[in-house]
Amino acid sequence: MTSLLHRTARRRRYLLCPPTHFAVRYAINPWMDPGQPVDRAAADRQWRRLCAVLRSLGHEVLTLDPLPGLPDMVFTANGATVVGGRVLVARFKHAERAGEATAHRRWFDRAGFRPVHTATRVNEGEGDLLVAGRRILAGWGFRTTAPAHREAQHLLGLPVVTLRLVDPRFYHLDTALTVLSDDQIMYWPPAFAPTSRRLLASLYPDAIRAGETDAAVFGLNAVSDGRHVVLPRAATGLAAQLHTHGYRPVPVEMPELLKAGGGPKCCTLELRDA
Ligand code: ARG
Repeated sequence: MTSLLHRTARRRRYLLCPPTHFAVRYAINPWMDPGQPVDRAAADRQWRRLCAVLRSLGHEVLTLDPLPGLPDMVFTANGATVVGGRVLVARFKHAERAGEATAHRRWFDRAGFRPVHTATRVNEGEGDLLVAGRRILAGWGFRTTAPAHREAQHLLGLPVVTLRLVDPRFYHLDTALTVLSDDQIMYWPPAFAPTSRRLLASLYPDAIRAGETDAAVFGLNAVSDGRHVVLPRAATGLAAQLHTHGYRPVPVEMPELLKAGGGPKCCTLELRDA
């Protein structure tokens, strides 16, 4: 079906980190099994393809230097949240990832972003804090904490809508919800507590609701520029729904990164200068 709606893309700047040291060495979410082999060369090909796709859509891709001993560093979305050039650097829940926050802090300081704050509460960046127009949708329940939401609201200057995640497979907000444009989202309602579901339904009556099959292949871990939506190829039902709503689904394949519980969005941190 072709939609009559015309969606407008806005050019973005993204920070990505190559999976040079990618591995599944510990298990901090249900997707991770350290016994399962990881093909790093394949991860690298999948990641390069993601960069090429983002660039082909007209976006600027900057890179963070990968560091040995930080196998999840490819997931830059967890390192910070950036709004109007203001940066809130993450504070990771698990010690295994703590060093990533230091690397992000250094990168933002050197890149000239001001101000740059480091969160004092557990805060996993855009994994749980999704900027949606003039508000931030914020998840808690597994990683980022509710006090971190208040800190983000204060330091980033946007009102925060607090949402409770309840399914451990969807441990970060960006695994259960995608911001498609300033005023539209897609999400899988059962990942949220009943009050949060009601809140989302009232804020976004026209949202796209994903089915479980698409959510389970990480279809909601998607990157939208307002028109093009880069999402896992396996999420075919969601791609069809997006098309009906006037968006252009852009499928990518990242099966290696899924072994760590990650997808295209986890690898993509948006640098919002304005
Ligand atoms: N293994 C990583 C973790 O559990 C994956 C992070 C995925 N990132 C995301 N934005 N959801 O922390």
